[in-house]
Amino acid sequence: MSADQVRSKNAKNRQFKIISLTVVSGFFILSLFQNCAEHEGLGGAGSLGSANCSPYLKAAFDSTVYSFAVTNCNNCHATGGPGKGKFADADSSLAWNDFSVISNVGTKFYNNSISTSHAPGISGPQLEASASIVKQSLTDAENSCLQSGGGIPGVSVVTTPKQINLAVGDPKKTISWILNSEIDPVQNTGGAIFYIDIQATSANYYVVSKPRIRTLTEDIHIIGVQIIINGQLYELATLFQGIDKVVLAGTGEETADGILNEGAVIISAQVSASDMLVIGFDELNIGAPEEKLGN
Ligand code: HEC
Repeated sequence: MSADQVRSKNAKNRQFKIISLTVVSGFFILSLFQNCAEHEGLGGAGSLGSANCSPYLKAAFDSTVYSFAVTNCNNCHATGGPGKGKFADADSSLAWNDFSVISNVGTKFYNNSISTSHAPGISGPQLEASASIVKQSLTDAENSCLQSGGGIPGVSVVTTPKQINLAVGDPKKTISWILNSEIDPVQNTGGAIFYIDIQATSANYYVVSKPRIRTLTEDIHIIGVQIIINGQLYELATLFQGIDKVVLAGTGEETADGILNEGAVIISAQVSASDMLVIGFDELNIGAPEEKLGN
């Protein structure tokens, strides 16, 4: 794509956003604004909350946050406790899921840790030294994310996270995303829906298969499909990374044109019902490439 094509595409996207802003509900307006803030680098500490930064946040969670939380916060922030968010739960993937959705997490986590009123006798200035280390690792994670262009290298669009909720031996299930609203950055994909199948074949493996798309009013061009579980990109899932396909408007997901790849990839992961699945796209463009010429 030439720079002009990119510009005209961006201008088109902006038009879509403006049109949407005038017709949709307040909730959706809010989410569009948050989305812009994240992508224009205005999010400050909040940009860690963007799905794109989640691999960086996860690394910080594993290395410093989780052990700090389990030691200091698990009276309340664990299953059965009164705290909001079970980020100190004994089940580390459940803990990560709850931690990953806290907005402005670096600041909140630090402030509550050193507060004399948040959990009297537990939180307070005595935690300042260790809470500072946690805060620094979250700041570093954010900087790494911003420096790498705001996300997973090569991935420009991600879906919202969906809970996989599978036990070993359960039948294969389909997880889907409404691409108009369940991707970041938001694009008007004309009602398209993305589907993928997943099964937990053993405690250590998921089999992820048959990515496919249903289109309604827009042609969708998809390049490179990436599997991200609990914030981790599975680089070995190379089969779907080679996808480069234009799916014309009005295509069904169970048709030769709607199926992006018939095959399956094996993902090595500790299966837990709380695991979260995100699909990353190297590119997800509206309109077939030839339609953009002369735009
Ligand atoms: C005595 C119980 C208790 C302890 C111990 C406790 N918290 Fe909390 N925490 C709460 C409650 C209740 C809430 C929800 C109300 C609020 O936000 O204050 C909360 C909320 C939070 C939130 C906001 C979550 C969100 O989704 O916005 C954060 C962050 C937090 N706590 C951090 C901590 C940290 C870090 C520790 C350990 C150093 C800790 N808390 C220890 C009870 C506790």
